[in-house]
Amino acid sequence: MENNERKPVNSLTATEAEAELAWLAGEIARHDALYHASDAPEISDADYDALRRRNVEIEERFPALVRADSPSKNVGYKAQSKFGKIAHVVPMLSLDNAFSDEDVRDFDARIRRFLRLDESEQLNLTAEPKIDGLSLSLRYEAGRLVYAATRGNGATGEDVTANARTIADIPQQLAGDFPQVAEIRGEVYMTLDAFQALNRRMEAEGKATYVNPRNTAAGSLRQLDASITAQRPLKFFAYAWGEMSAMPANTQMGMVEIFKGWGFKTNPLMAVFSDVEAMIAHYHEIEARRSTLGYDIDGVVYKVNDLALQQRLGFVSRSPRWAIAHKFPAEKAQTILKGIDIQVGRTGALTPVARLEPVNVGGVVVTNATLHNGEEIERLGIMIGDTVIVQRAGDVIPQILGYLPERRPNHVRKFDFPTTCPCDLKTPIIREETASGAEGVVRRCSGEFACPFQRKEHLKLFVGRKAFDIEGLGEKQIDSFYDDEVLPIRTPADIFTLQRRDQANPLQKLKNREGYGETSAQKLFDAIESRRRMALSRVIFSLGIRHVGEATARTFARAYGNWQAFEEAALAVSGGDMTAREEMDALDDVGDAVIDAVARYFAEPHNRAMVEDLITELDIEEAEKPTTDSPVAGKTVVFTGALERMTRDEAKAMAERLGAKVAGSVSAKTNLLVAGPGAGSKLKKAQELGIETISENEWFALIGG
Ligand code: IVH
Repeated sequence: MENNERKPVNSLTATEAEAELAWLAGEIARHDALYHASDAPEISDADYDALRRRNVEIEERFPALVRADSPSKNVGYKAQSKFGKIAHVVPMLSLDNAFSDEDVRDFDARIRRFLRLDESEQLNLTAEPKIDGLSLSLRYEAGRLVYAATRGNGATGEDVTANARTIADIPQQLAGDFPQVAEIRGEVYMTLDAFQALNRRMEAEGKATYVNPRNTAAGSLRQLDASITAQRPLKFFAYAWGEMSAMPANTQMGMVEIFKGWGFKTNPLMAVFSDVEAMIAHYHEIEARRSTLGYDIDGVVYKVNDLALQQRLGFVSRSPRWAIAHKFPAEKAQTILKGIDIQVGRTGALTPVARLEPVNVGGVVVTNATLHNGEEIERLGIMIGDTVIVQRAGDVIPQILGYLPERRPNHVRKFDFPTTCPCDLKTPIIREETASGAEGVVRRCSGEFACPFQRKEHLKLFVGRKAFDIEGLGEKQIDSFYDDEVLPIRTPADIFTLQRRDQANPLQKLKNREGYGETSAQKLFDAIESRRRMALSRVIFSLGIRHVGEATARTFARAYGNWQAFEEAALAVSGGDMTAREEMDALDDVGDAVIDAVARYFAEPHNRAMVEDLITELDIEEAEKPTTDSPVAGKTVVFTGALERMTRDEAKAMAERLGAKVAGSVSAKTNLLVAGPGAGSKLKKAQELGIETISENEWFALIGG
């Protein structure tokens, strides 16, 4: 979208190009993080691809301006730290995209040129659906699954072995003849039926629902608790490979057939073509059948069939020259813009949302579309009553691309961005300044927790999965309890006084309410009760302090140890105490933005009252401070093989309590390897690197257990 308003690359000056490359690096990194770490993309794949393309085009014109952190130098997001890391022996690359039939003919021609094949010579290509899931690399040694890793940034991924073992489509042991080392790659995905069933269950339990099958699959695979992954019906298609100690076939199709013999599922729509036009026809056939497949696909991937030719073709930066993804176009439709509402987010950011005459866009009925901010409305030039073009790409919130001037009726109405918050308090709206002092595009309600919208959004965060995670109290229930006259929940403390207030009210008991009965009311009270005792880090996160996410909350919990110490520090900082500020500043990942947000939060009497009311209701666990005087403090430890005296999670928690860092893979940075029976590649690597290796019993002797 943003590209429409940007200057053509060939008219950029060097200064403009430099500024834009800086912006693109930040923006692409942000979208990578939203997609990979939060499983919550803000833009469509097509818009994301457009950003990356523009970055490449500018770099091609101004090679001297290529940044060290340029997105063209990496393929995605860096691995998250909550899982161990695994370095891919063979990098996991990405695919170039084609957006039209013409792009595919160009691809065929490019390959022929590169290989010096003339038109009469046959070039076989495979075509198969591009599965909209997440890629996974599975390493088998002597036929047994030893680890599973996500793509991560292409070079290093996350160790999700325990989770992958719960997926029925992934064999633990290969069947038939196989080489000593075989790395199978493919896509983890969820069927539409499974996705809908899971969301229905989440909704019934009052939990946040997922946006689409791909994010659900990603979220499910990246669960720290593998038993949760086991409950999610994930599936897997094998379509590629990494390290192979011996190649069992010499064509792409041959390899995939071998995978099938080893026990993998492969996609039934994969076929080989010697004629590019027939292959394009296959694409259109798959496109037509797309909605009947039962799982999401977002295009068709073409690959050169002959592996010797693949080898000759090689790679260009992050993608193979021998393959391309032919993407399906985003789906569009026309409808009437009936109005524009303002939505207030948890941090007070105001987002205009288009209310549309319901319209079917590629099988989904769309009634709303995001308009991002006031500038976007101006840029589009839309007025209420216009016929607008709506686009829905994959999973992101539908967007408006523009309007049809010839359809503009006489009675259109211009939208004026309000100057006060749509809440009853009519709090003034402020516009934040950008880093350079210019007026920012984000308008915010200045009311913070006085604004009912922000309070409601904060309550939703409070009961959410990452905070108090209260079963039976999800977004829907918050919406209805917030507006309830008899038994309202308007502050976090109200949740913990709910049962008392219900008992004190003889007339209108919760159990007599619509949607509740004796059992479900009691279940809700019990669920709330079970959350009174809560980890300090979750309490801090649940306060909804700006810039204080899960990781920062954990840092605070570890550093201050208990609530009193954290609160004291926060109050001192908001009172301008420089020593307290310096102490806070010394913490990992805590900088001015975080400290200022904490200071502002605790300086606000409204917030203080809310926090005090909450704290008196809770029994907050102290955080265990990592020891610094243990024999493993500061060391990087790797556990491998079967552990007999403790589970992997226990081992990890124990080592971390003793001040050690636990890694998932062996590298030069590893100080100690604890190897149980059956240890394989990690043990070998540690021995090669001369890393100290001990048994599980020796570990207990070392730490004095
Ligand atoms: S081949 C060297 N085949 O698309 C390239 N990828 O944009 C290996 N994907 O990371 C990838 N279906 O997650 C290939 N049939 C398919 C695919 C596929 C989905 C994904 C995969 C990859 C991404 C690249």
